[in-house]
Amino acid sequence: MRTSLTSLLLWGAASFTSVSAQEPTCKYGDDPNIIAHTGTPVGSLKTYQGASLYVSEPSSCKNPSIGVIYLTDAFGIQFVNNKLLADSFARAGFFAVAPDMFEGDPAPFDLATPGFNATEWTLLHNPTAITPILNKAIAYIQSKGITKIAATGYCFGGRYSFRLLAAGTGVKVAFSAHPSLLEDSEILAITGPISVAAAEIDAMMSPARRSQIEGFLANNVSQPYQVNLYGGTAHGFATRGDITLPEQKFGKEAAFYQAVRWFSAWA
Ligand SMILES: *[C@@H]1O[C@H](CO)[C@@H](O)[C@H](O)[C@H]1NC(C)=O
Ligand SMILES: *[C@@H]1O[C@H](CO)[C@@H](O)[C@H](O)[C@H]1NC(C)=O
Repeated sequence: MRTSLTSLLLWGAASFTSVSAQEPTCKYGDDPNIIAHTGTPVGSLKTYQGASLYVSEPSSCKNPSIGVIYLTDAFGIQFVNNKLLADSFARAGFFAVAPDMFEGDPAPFDLATPGFNATEWTLLHNPTAITPILNKAIAYIQSKGITKIAATGYCFGGRYSFRLLAAGTGVKVAFSAHPSLLEDSEILAITGPISVAAAEIDAMMSPARRSQIEGFLANNVSQPYQVNLYGGTAHGFATRGDITLPEQKFGKEAAFYQAVRWFSAWA
């Protein structure tokens, strides 16, 4: 279910709204109606310093004091679920910005797609390529006068939630759902509070690895932390959970509100 650039632009153009003066100052809500699993995204695409950003602003409140940099899974901002979840953060009162981390080259849903080489793709979209794009997204949020910045990341992007908690990035607090390819050094380098959502079935974060990560957070890192395990879920559930299945729907929603509450507590 990839979407064309044209439809992205249409969605953006159709959904632009301005915030009126009577609207309340943003508070960070956990109203169960905030999260949307389906429908039409309401944000818009912007280019900043050459980086392509999906931007979703709160529409029911003004002056959001916290910005969220949304770090996608390998399917990028082109995947509608990522745009809808970024919109959900905006409905929760955050200024949400999802950079196109793969510069128009997201992974296909079917890794067996002819011509797609996952090893090559991962080597190409490495931290050296991605970090400057994330820095532009952070600078864009800061250009709006927002200094409190939270990172939310999923699968491939979940690793970057940790990376953005290293010193000097401008990010204060982060949430990471089922991170892929996360390295020990990236966990040990965090300088802010981290919240993790873990899947029951996850080759990228097995029970043994999860317990090792918990050990690092408990013993080797002096930061507030939280690790929640969601039963009945598999890798990817926080963006791609099958919402027709009650445990997966609960997990996807609870992981979202986990991030919202973490950011409002620690940003
Ligand atoms: C995939 O890419 C890797 C790294 O460039 C290369 O070593 C490997 O041979 C490629 N595999 C195929 C099937 O082309
Ligand atoms: C983490 O802390 C434990 C307990 O203090 C210690 O034994 C271990 O060497 C530390 N690991 C790292 C990587 O610093």
